[in-house]
Order: sequence, then structure tokens, then C-alpha cells
Amino acid sequence: MAENNKKILLSGVKPTGRPHIGNYFGAMKQFVELQDQYESLIFIADLHALTTARDAKQLKQDTLDLAIDYLAIGLDPEKVIFYKQSDVSEHTDLTWIFNCLTMMPYLARAHAFKDAEAKSKEVNVGLFDYPILMAADILLYDADVVPVGADQKQHVEIARDTAEKFNYNYGDTFKLPEPLILEGVKTVVGLDGQKMSKSYDNTIPLFAETDEIKRLVMTIKTDSKGVEEPKNPEECNVFALHKLFTPTDQLAEIKKRYVEGGIGYKESKDLLAENIDKYLAPLREKRAEIAKNPDQVLQILKNGAKLAKNRAKLKMTDVRAKVGIDL
Ligand code: ADP
Ligand code: TRP
Repeated sequence: MAENNKKILLSGVKPTGRPHIGNYFGAMKQFVELQDQYESLIFIADLHALTTARDAKQLKQDTLDLAIDYLAIGLDPEKVIFYKQSDVSEHTDLTWIFNCLTMMPYLARAHAFKDAEAKSKEVNVGLFDYPILMAADILLYDADVVPVGADQKQHVEIARDTAEKFNYNYGDTFKLPEPLILEGVKTVVGLDGQKMSKSYDNTIPLFAETDEIKRLVMTIKTDSKGVEEPKNPEECNVFALHKLFTPTDQLAEIKKRYVEGGIGYKESKDLLAENIDKYLAPLREKRAEIAKNPDQVLQILKNGAKLAKNRAKLKMTDVRAKVGIDL
């Protein structure tokens, strides 16, 4: 527990391109909403991105962009320790120590590795070791809770196992973290009706401009029912997005017109594009404002890294002594 009796929350986000509204409702928004309740550390996982990123310029740009995105949605660097993973070398120091306690067959059972192998992709050592770097990220700060999507749950379990292994060998050192799988956050549907995801190319970017929003909304997949035909709103991809962006009274009105007939998909999409745009405009404006001052953003990350490093160093002093490399 932190000095102020708040529990410690930690999460990492990979800089892998423009975030979309699925990322926003599924993860990003929650970090901001939880920042008062927990003592939070949020970092940009650039070392994890390196398992796949090969273009240095692009990685730098994505990292800066993601930092701006988070500040734009209201992450407050006065409340949250916000930093870049690679600025705190203790993450990789601890990874090595954990590597030496981890058996290869154990890591070979991790979903991400198995998936990559099944697709007969060549797997680099970094990708194989991804969960151990993530365990180090989490355990270094004695995190109580780790908010993640369901797909990351196994990684938090690996972090718990790793803490137990270390504690068993060297005595009580690491706290066992709990995943915080955000309940009630439904999967946001993409333009084609599948889960919205960068890998399916079916997203609406969170910071899309008005024209881009309109163009993308018009491509949402629907059936071919005519204007007057009654429609089931619960089966409609357009309506699913209305639920996130359309004010309650208007939503009820649209729902009624779906059920009774009288609204066509074109009109429903026009209204949706308008409401998404209204919702996102203030975020977009704030982002544009922050983006004018990249040096200030870098300074925020630097300050965050300093705070994170102080904590990480303290923990590593204990770890180094426990394993016997503190001569
Ligand atoms: P993508 O699938 O676009 O590559 P990521 O895997 O990087 O997205 O997701 C980062 C986080 O955003 C996830 O842990 C998850 O919580 C959230 N997320 C991603 N897509 C969705 C979605 N369609 N609906 C709800 N949450 C999502
Ligand atoms: N693997 C996470 C993802 O792909 C990102 C991540 C890296 C992370 N380190 C973390 C999340 C530590 C939570 C805690 O989304």
C-alpha cells in the first residue's frame, strides 16, 4: 500500500499506432477515471513494442503521439506517474533475474507465443520473453491491481507465478498483483461487426477529424432492410455505436423508430457521425493544443521517469541483495 493508503495501480500501453474508440472505452478512459482512487503508474511500453517494431523513427513518433493522446483524454501527470518504460532500466535488470528463474516449457505455454508459433511466425527471443518483461514491469512497483483487457489476463497470472517463484527461493519480496478486468466494459464493435481492432482494419480512430468520422461511419456494415421496415436495434452495428455516443433521450427516440420502422440506415448513420463528432471534438481540440508543445510532453515523461526510477531503484536494492549481486 502506498503512503497515502491508496492501493497501487499500474498499467502499460504499447505505442503501436493511433488508438481507436474501442481502446478508449475498453481501457484508456478507465485509467483516467481511476486516477483519483488509486496511486497510479502508467507507462508507455516501448520495450514491448520493440518485439515487433523495426522502424526507429516510427517508434519514436508513436511513443510521443501516445503520450499526447493520454494527456489529451485527461490523464493528469500531477496525479499519475506517467513515463516511458525504457527510461527506467530497472525493468530490464529485473527481467534478467526473473529469466533465470523461469523455465522454457512454462513460457512456451503462454497464449501469445503459442499463437505466433501456430501461425508459423518466426518468434524472436524478446517476444518469447514478453511475459517476463511484463512481470518485471508490474512487480517492480508492488502493484496491487493491473487494469487490462481480458486478453492480458494470462500475463498477469504469469507475473503472480513469477512473484511466487522468487519469494519461494529468496524470501518474501514481491506482492502478488490482481488483474482488474474492467466489468461492464463491453467489446466495442468495429465497422464490419467484428470486435474493433487495429489488426482487423475496422476502427474509428479516437482523434479522427469530422470528415474521416463521416466517411468511416458510412461504411458500417448493415443488412439491407428498407426505411419503413422494423429493425432490431440489438442486431445493428450502427445502433451499437449509438449506445456509446448518443444522448439518452435521442437514443430512446432512435430505438423507437428502429422497432416501429421509419428510420433508414443512412439517417441512423448521419446521426451517429454527428454524435461521434460532437463527443470527440473536445478531445481533439485538447490534443491539438498539447501537440503544439512536444517539449512539454517530453518533460512530463522525464519527470515521470525520475519518480518511477526512485521507486524502482529502491526495490532493486532489495532484490540485488537477495540474489547476491550487491557485493
Ligand atoms: P487492438 O486490438 O486494436 O490492437 P490492443 O490489443 O492494443 O488493441 O488493445 C489495448 C486495450 O484496448 C486492450 O487491452 C483492451 O482493453 C482495449 N480494447 C481493444 N479493442 C477493444 C474493443 N473493441 N472493445 C473494447 N476494448 C478494447
Ligand atoms: N502487454 C500489454 C498489452 O499488450 C502492455 C503491457 C506491458 C502491460 N507491460 C504491462 C499492461 C504491464 C499491464 C501491465 O496491452
